[in-house]
Amino acid sequence: MEIDVFTLFPEWFDWFTAQRHVRNALAGKVRFERVNFRDHTPLSGGQVDDTPFGGGAGMLLRVDVVDSALRAHYQLDPVELRAQRRVIALTPGGRLLDDELVDELAAEPALTLLCARYEGFDERIIEHFASDEVSIGRYVLSGGELAAMVLCDAVLRKLPGALGDASSSAEESFSSSLGGDPEYPHYTRPAEHRGWRVPEVLLSGHHERIAQWRRERSRERAQRLGGDAAD
Ligand SMILES: C[S@@+](CC[C@H](N)C(=O)[O-])C[C@H]1O[C@@H](n2cnc3c(N)ncnc32)[C@H](O)[C@@H]1O
Repeated sequence: MEIDVFTLFPEWFDWFTAQRHVRNALAGKVRFERVNFRDHTPLSGGQVDDTPFGGGAGMLLRVDVVDSALRAHYQLDPVELRAQRRVIALTPGGRLLDDELVDELAAEPALTLLCARYEGFDERIIEHFASDEVSIGRYVLSGGELAAMVLCDAVLRKLPGALGDASSSAEESFSSSLGGDPEYPHYTRPAEHRGWRVPEVLLSGHHERIAQWRRERSRERAQRLGGDAAD
């Protein structure tokens, strides 16, 4: 898989790419590249943003700057790019990132992520260059970089070899093996602390009863979340 992140702050990803599961993925078949919009701006003084037409606060990432960065990186008209790979604009109002979307993106051979800052994107960037708008939640961050890291983290841990133990991702919250429900509770030693006992069934060694107990706890958690978490 290839992931290209377009950002004004490529150095923010230094921390992200140093994390173990990301390093594992990068040591395998994943190529992760960051592109600084500013390195490709056609404007003088490294300008990348401008004030909104019609007035209002803040600055918008300019369409000509994004056009030129995508064109320079992919050597083609960016309008053509979204027919070849998912080009994702990170926006607060986009499609909410959930496990289904993460699975969908993890199956893609190539992703391009566009991070804005300040007041956001000139809308023509989204209309003409992006294939998707993705949000990591209904709140507003200061920029798309953290959202891009969240998306990449979730996608990369789905790829073979990213996690030391592949079974860690097989049965976890929202996976199909849990019917889309949140994961059941886990416990470790000591079996008792301040009178708080680990549920006896987990100490029983009885695999079927343990599996059933876990299934029931997952369902309970789903119901507490307001019905089926997979809905
Ligand atoms: C300060 S925000 C712009 C908010 C925009 N003016 C609005 O009200 O929707 C700057 C940028 O951060 C990113 N961003 C902020 N919140 C996000 C979220 N919840 N999910 C994904 N990206 C987000 C987007 O790239 C956005 O354009």
